[in-house]
Amino acid sequence: SKKIILDCDPGHDDAIALLLAHGNPQIELLAVTTVVGNQTLEKVTRNALAVARIANITGVPFAAGCDRPLVRKIEVAPEIHGDSGLDGPTLPEPNIELDPRHAVDLIIELIMSHPPHTITLVPTAGLTNIAMAARREPRIVERVKEVVLMGGGYHTGNWSAVAEFNIIIDPEAAHIVFNERWPLLMVGLDLTHQALATPEVIEKISAIGTGPARFVLDLLAFFGKTYKQAQGFDFPPVHDPCAVAWVIDPAVMTVKTVPVDIELRGTLTTGMTVTDFRRPAPPDCHTRVAVELDKDYFWRMVTDALQHIGEV
Ligand code: BDR
Ligand code: CA
Repeated sequence: SKKIILDCDPGHDDAIALLLAHGNPQIELLAVTTVVGNQTLEKVTRNALAVARIANITGVPFAAGCDRPLVRKIEVAPEIHGDSGLDGPTLPEPNIELDPRHAVDLIIELIMSHPPHTITLVPTAGLTNIAMAARREPRIVERVKEVVLMGGGYHTGNWSAVAEFNIIIDPEAAHIVFNERWPLLMVGLDLTHQALATPEVIEKISAIGTGPARFVLDLLAFFGKTYKQAQGFDFPPVHDPCAVAWVIDPAVMTVKTVPVDIELRGTLTTGMTVTDFRRPAPPDCHTRVAVELDKDYFWRMVTDALQHIGEV
């Protein structure tokens, strides 16, 4: 099985990433950790626990992490995710307790107590927790299998012309994470803007007919509305599950090895994932970027996971 830690800020697409991870039999979800992002830490943590109840995720620790970025002021995204961070569906009261450990401690404990190169970190939010963990216990960098993150974009941004939300909300953290020498795959906007919840996708999810599937439909209805209003999309891009999909089966996307670094000082470009395509990547290049999505396969993974979760 493929062991992952999902570090997230639910968040409509984070919630779907969590359902995909939980519902795919190949994924072993070791922990869900939360970080400020789409909404405050308190809100996104509550949302994560609510999703756990909706899908009956038990026996997995949920731990809250950093409540603010390393350097910058908190920036949340109510225009996309609403005031709760997960507007649209009615959320149940959580029925599991939050793990008492800080997310950064839990991440370190899990990585250090498992055999080397067995855990994939899957961040789908700002990189504050991951950067803090790398600084607090540098040995995790050698030890993780890979970091597969949703964030950035080599040809486009969404929070500025060239910067993506997860990177721009804590660029210093992103700088740390992209510059550590662990294998890192950036599943950025170039890829995730191919994962659109089109009417055909909605129809397939509707056909499942379970509570968790209806929850996803409610999420996508709200997400579709805000993505149209705020970003001018006909159909919403469902970013975060793309990172989980790669872990399930790398055949779902093509990738390219290329150096990526984070702009920290641009007057127009802060938070840009500067990707250097000029020449063949140097042999020690540790970063890759996701390029092309097999859309049918991706959505099949999502609907299969929902089928597998079933009625709870
Ligand atoms: C990313 O930003 C968040 O709003 C989404 O959850 C996703 O992780 C997309 O830019
Ligand atoms: Ca997210």
